[in-house]
Amino acid sequence: MPTLAASRSSAVRFDWEDESTWAPALAHADAAYVTYFPDLAIPGADEAVGRFIEVALANDVRRLVLLSGRGEEGARRAEVRLQESDADWTVVRCGFFSQNFSETFPEPVAHGVLPMPIGDVADPFLDADDIADVVVTALLDDRHIGQLYELTGPRLLTLTEVAQTIGDAIGRPVTFVPMSKDEYAASIADQGFPGEVAHHIADVIALALDGRNIEMTDDVERVLGRPARDFADHARNAATDGAWNLPA
Ligand SMILES: NC(=O)c1ccc[n+]([C@@H]2O[C@H](COP(=O)([O-])OP(=O)(O)OC[C@H]3O[C@@H](n4cnc5c(N)ncnc54)[C@H](OP(=O)(O)O)[C@@H]3O)[C@@H](O)[C@H]2O)c1
Repeated sequence: MPTLAASRSSAVRFDWEDESTWAPALAHADAAYVTYFPDLAIPGADEAVGRFIEVALANDVRRLVLLSGRGEEGARRAEVRLQESDADWTVVRCGFFSQNFSETFPEPVAHGVLPMPIGDVADPFLDADDIADVVVTALLDDRHIGQLYELTGPRLLTLTEVAQTIGDAIGRPVTFVPMSKDEYAASIADQGFPGEVAHHIADVIALALDGRNIEMTDDVERVLGRPARDFADHARNAATDGAWNLPA
């Protein structure tokens, strides 16, 4: 089935900040996978998603799959907007991505430090490749219409264990460093995230990892018929792909 990527830098331009791009991006689609940026937890995100759903339905795009987050009120509000709409919906509610360590914030890790705005908590970290597999499966099979899936990884790891696992994969020690939310926001602002976004990200991470999302589900296996990917496999693959290589 042909697919089109739609973001600010793709051939089909789509910008959450520019509603005039929404209808043209939907022009040749009959289904859409909706991922809000930067996060459904930020104020106004559910209203934007609600307006997007209206534009999609007005353009005869009824099949909508929403990427959502666990344990966030804003994400829940966005889910409800979709569930109460006339769309043929599926909600894919996700735990904390393993790729946050390798793709979103790889820089300090490459230098041997894993900073987080919280203490040494545990989480069932979720491989984003499992999200992609679940979303594709849902889009291709109408039996997933009207379903809410809650995806997690297959086991709990503490942040110290995450750091050790990455260290094992790259052959250099990595140390988990707990920080205050303000310290963490300042550290990611240095990596290029604008101040206000950096504070939101620190808040969202601290909230997502405060223990509310510690429970594991078997929804990845229920949808795909195979277990969720393990964090150690992600760390090995990301290391092989050079995610934590030091700059030459
Ligand atoms: N990270 C997690 O652990 C986690 C967990 C649960 C749910 N979520 C949800 O996942 C979603 C994305 O999070 P992420 O962590 O995967 O982010 P991310 O990887 O940093 O997303 C970046 C993507 O967003 C696009 N983008 C950025 N600004 C955009 C804009 N104004 N309009 C359209 N596209 C834009 C970028 O493409 P361009 O630069 O080409 O625009 C890029 O493809 C959020 O809705 C969040 O609530 C995340």
